[in-house]
Amino acid sequence: MNEKTKILVVDDERVVRDGCHRVLTGKGYEVLTAENGRQALDLLAGEVIDMILLDLKMPVMSGEEMLGITTEKYPNIPVIIITGHGTVDTAVECMKNGAYDFITKPFQMDQFLLTITRAAEKRKLEQRARQFEEENIRNLYDLNLEKSRLKTIINRMANGVMVTNRNLEVVLHNPALMRLAEISSEVENPAPVTEIIDDKSLIKTLEQIQSGEIPDNESISQEIQVGKNILRAISAPALGPDKNVAGTVTVLEDIAAFKQLDQMKSDFVNMVAHELRSPLVSIRQLNSVLVEGLAGPLEEKQQDFVNRGMNKIDGLLELINDLLDVAKIEAGKYVQRQVPTDIGKIIEETVALMEERAKEKGIDLTYSCNDLKPVQADPKNIEEIFNNLISNAINYSPEGGRVTVTAQGFGENMEIRVEDTGVGISPEELPKIFDKFYRVKHPKTREVVGTGLGLAIVKGVVEAHHGTIDVESVVDKGTTFRILLPVITQ
Ligand SMILES: Nc1ncnc2c1ncn2[C@@H]1O[C@H](COP(=O)(O)OP(=O)(O)OP(=O)(O)O)[C@@H](O)[C@H]1O
Ligand SMILES: [Mg+2]
Repeated sequence: MNEKTKILVVDDERVVRDGCHRVLTGKGYEVLTAENGRQALDLLAGEVIDMILLDLKMPVMSGEEMLGITTEKYPNIPVIIITGHGTVDTAVECMKNGAYDFITKPFQMDQFLLTITRAAEKRKLEQRARQFEEENIRNLYDLNLEKSRLKTIINRMANGVMVTNRNLEVVLHNPALMRLAEISSEVENPAPVTEIIDDKSLIKTLEQIQSGEIPDNESISQEIQVGKNILRAISAPALGPDKNVAGTVTVLEDIAAFKQLDQMKSDFVNMVAHELRSPLVSIRQLNSVLVEGLAGPLEEKQQDFVNRGMNKIDGLLELINDLLDVAKIEAGKYVQRQVPTDIGKIIEETVALMEERAKEKGIDLTYSCNDLKPVQADPKNIEEIFNNLISNAINYSPEGGRVTVTAQGFGENMEIRVEDTGVGISPEELPKIFDKFYRVKHPKTREVVGTGLGLAIVKGVVEAHHGTIDVESVVDKGTTFRILLPVITQ
């Protein structure tokens, strides 16, 4: 924008042209000259001119005629009429016809320059205003384009989209949402959320988001049922320009097919596990007849082979039993019989059974308890919990470590801790260790055999007893599992 203002001087008198050229160039303007209207129009056609100084009395084409052409063809260029005293009336007439101002000959220098400066400023202001307007139009166009693109995407998406305002009213939704929510009639925006999805847990989530409890880089995922559809709803805050929560955005996905597949997979695994167990139990029985020498004495080598086979069979049976346990927990049929149970005694027995293995690894396994009340529980299941936790603590600790089991009263609960000084679990892995089949890949525990079902069973059993389990761990320092089980209170 710092370019020089370009002035075209149109006058048939050479003295005027040269004078203007000299004075105006000296003031920092760029000056072009033409001695008649035709020359001037040629110049205008090839250059961007900011201002015209136009003499009225000229051969070839009169100033008035030239003014008529320029105001029509170049309406944004200010034209200043140069006139003698005798033609002031005509000059005034010219201003009515679109000229910006006039100056009389002979020029009074101050007046002359002032008129030019004002015209130049006017031209600049107008140019800037025009630029702003063009930019505005362009931005509006871009905005509309963006809006229309977004609208197309949202309307074509297979997932439902629901956007709410500060009052939790739906202000934007797409056809997929209506389909998933099984609504066939038109819904006018804004509409209360409950008019589209009446699910308490989702509404609670949206309220939490709206109140600012959820950071803007987090989202909440939950499963909800709407009519016969099972949906996964992922909700997040929508921030306004002031960075405050201006509403919520929820994307809903139909997960019925995944659920069905998951169920089919579980059914298949259960079926296979079940079908494998009976023949394996028979093989084990036959094998034990051999091991015990009931089918005749075995040579040392034969005995060794049969024993090894027996170990493998036991491993397989353990895996199958774990698979069936998980299936039962998932079906809610695991905890069969609950009686007042002395948990302390069960832990003591489990610790005693594990002592041998701990000793082999040079691990110091200890147990202490105080103030224990009975718990309403299935003793076999409880045994499973400590079997898994203590064997994990031993398996995932290097030689010479310590495993400490403690149990104590904790208000209406019993608190049991299984602590070890083992390899630990990194914060990224920690949330996954209770998943079925999840095992941490760790160079130091690579040789430990397992299926990753132990902790899934432990969690299922604890929860079936209305208890909770959590875990804290520091890599290379150790891990602590903490269980709370409600005690019987009279
Ligand atoms: N005390 C522990 N210290 C360090 N890592 C552990 C500990 N307990 C569990 N883990 C990690 O969590 C994973 C899951 O444990 P989980 O008991 O479910 O399966 P597993 O021991 O691998 O197999 P199994 O089903 O035979 O018990 C383990 O593979 C191990 O990586
Ligand atoms: Mg385990």
